[in-house]
Amino acid sequence: MSVAADPMADDGPGITCVGLGPGDPDLMSVRADRLVRGATDIAYFRKAGRPGKARQIVEGLLAPGVREYAMEYPVTTELPLTDPAYHSQLAAFYADWTERLADLAASRRVIVLCEGDPFFYGSFMHLYVRLQGRVPMQVVPGITGMSGCWTATGTPMAWGDNVVTVLMGTLPEAELVRHAAAGDALVVMKLGRNLPKLRRVLAAIGRLEEAWLVQDGTMPGQTVRRLAEVPEATVPYFSILLVHGRERVPAATAIAAP
Ligand SMILES: C[S@@+](CC[C@H](N)C(=O)[O-])C[C@H]1O[C@@H](n2cnc3c(N)ncnc32)[C@H](O)[C@@H]1O
Repeated sequence: MSVAADPMADDGPGITCVGLGPGDPDLMSVRADRLVRGATDIAYFRKAGRPGKARQIVEGLLAPGVREYAMEYPVTTELPLTDPAYHSQLAAFYADWTERLADLAASRRVIVLCEGDPFFYGSFMHLYVRLQGRVPMQVVPGITGMSGCWTATGTPMAWGDNVVTVLMGTLPEAELVRHAAAGDALVVMKLGRNLPKLRRVLAAIGRLEEAWLVQDGTMPGQTVRRLAEVPEATVPYFSILLVHGRERVPAATAIAAP
């Protein structure tokens, strides 16, 4: 499937969503850096009243006079995911920004900032599917948050034929147990108030002692702790749980001790 005629054609009118990596601006790609520094118009998501993580990452890199469009979520954790109002408010928000970005992108290049990789649980995907076919669009991949976080633990994440399972802490407990039990290495995102539930899940699969919690990975104030040493029941949005895969040494190739 062809998505963009020329994925490098990012200088005419249109939209380029730039993956900024996990937080440290040094972990942006050369292309992301070039596009951010050259931007005349940037758009980014943020929770109302907050600066926005993507916007914080590019602080000090922007050209003077850049026009900024803060796309403020109407709702984040105020309503449960199961509430229809949560989905209707977000749908209206995405529909609104689809129109606004389409208007802007008719005459200029809008750079949409995205923490991590845009196509990996990124909010921009909701605009991307709505804008496809209407506006020339490019997406610049970025290092994911989880990659920055497992590197921060200083421990290899996935070996050989390990299965890596990525889960959202918002899933029901039984589903978390089922998926987590089936893999070798485990990543859990969107922790927030779900930490007590996730401790129970890890205990149920016998891996509670192996789990790490990384908060603000590669960002100022990063913390890397064993989950067993974390007293809090609630953690900030940019927190991730990691259980590393284990190296498997087949008996036939194991080096015999002298
Ligand atoms: C909506 S997802 C966005 C993922 C992003 N597009 C990426 O490629 O990593 C947000 C979740 O990713 C995790 N996350 C992303 N970056 C992180 C970081 N630097 N430190 C800790 N957690 C992070 C957190 O669990 C957070 O709740």
